[in-house]
Amino acid sequence: MELKNDLLLRAARGEKTERTPVWMMRQAGRILAEYRAVREKAGSFIQLATTPELAAEVTLQPVDLLGVDAAIIFSDILVVPEAMGLPYEMVEQRGPVFPATVHSMKDLEKLHVAEPETDLKYVLDAIKITKQGLENRVPLIGFAGAPFTIFCYMTEGKGSKTFSVAKKHLYADPEFSHALLQKITDSTIAYLKAQVVAGANLVQIFDSWAGILSPEQYRIFSLPYIKQICDAINEVPVTVFAKGAFFARKEISELSCEVVGLDWNMDIRESRELIPNKTLQGNLDPCVLYASYDQIKIEVKKMLEQFSTQRYIANLGHGVYPDTDPDKVRCFIESVKEYSSL
Ligand code: CP3
Repeated sequence: MELKNDLLLRAARGEKTERTPVWMMRQAGRILAEYRAVREKAGSFIQLATTPELAAEVTLQPVDLLGVDAAIIFSDILVVPEAMGLPYEMVEQRGPVFPATVHSMKDLEKLHVAEPETDLKYVLDAIKITKQGLENRVPLIGFAGAPFTIFCYMTEGKGSKTFSVAKKHLYADPEFSHALLQKITDSTIAYLKAQVVAGANLVQIFDSWAGILSPEQYRIFSLPYIKQICDAINEVPVTVFAKGAFFARKEISELSCEVVGLDWNMDIRESRELIPNKTLQGNLDPCVLYASYDQIKIEVKKMLEQFSTQRYIANLGHGVYPDTDPDKVRCFIESVKEYSSL
């Protein structure tokens, strides 16, 4: 079962590639009219995410319609707290909300370590169906949120600019915080291992809220748990994307992961120096895709010149924004392919 296009995996492992592989964070389910049609049919985001055939269908869309070098399974990072016993709702125009939140050891005792084969079977089934639909064309990326980012949602109950409720717990009750982080970590390791067994060829850890922590707090409350995950997943390459954690790049370079994702605030040459031993992924500002076609091509060229075409996976510096024109996305993808070909 050899992949026809394994550029992503070879780049992740640090092997030579004829050109730079390219995909986009949040490529499944934000920008395509074809996605919105399936979502309408499903009725809601959660219905779509928990119906394996439909989740597989929207996972394949960017491969067929945009020409990316990888698929990422359509799901959400919040399926892990749900599997632990804390359900979420997706509120139209607002985002995820947890009706109940976790604030004490007593709350924590009511949650269990997720058992992926039962609690998250629908994701594993979606991965299996997606693999069939891919017919070995490109690799499939699995993912999970980093424990700290999941902790933010489980304590805060919704998105926040400051996540001050989550941070309050770190300062006021570190013992509870570590206990919750450990339970999330144990669930995440089991979940990612199950994704690999189901067919994921690489897994990415999203620490979307890394940037709200001080360097010291990041070392105490986020990195050790990401480290446990990296140490546990040895079957496939692992990507760590810690948005805003420019201050922790040296420590991230010491994790046993293969790829480090950069956001657009991180200087490329400086990042190569701080993380010399790994493949880098990123980091075009998603807002570049609002510019003209000519400007997009110029920005892609600049990015490739700074990263070079090797040990590199082209991507945006965060997820693609929902109102991005799919033709501008195609321009981004085509430009990477054209300018990076040896
Ligand atoms: O990359 C992909 O395309 C795969 C699918 C994917 C989704 N969420 C689907 C989704 C992935 C990788 C995620 C990760 C995710 N979810 C993160 C980490 C990445 C990041 O952006 O920082 C976070 C923080 C979440 C939590 C979340 N889920 C939020 C804040 C929201 C609301 C705003 C938004 O992103 O649209 C969601 C909802 C969500 N997750 C949607 C999709 C397609 C939109 C729901 C809809 O269709 O109405």
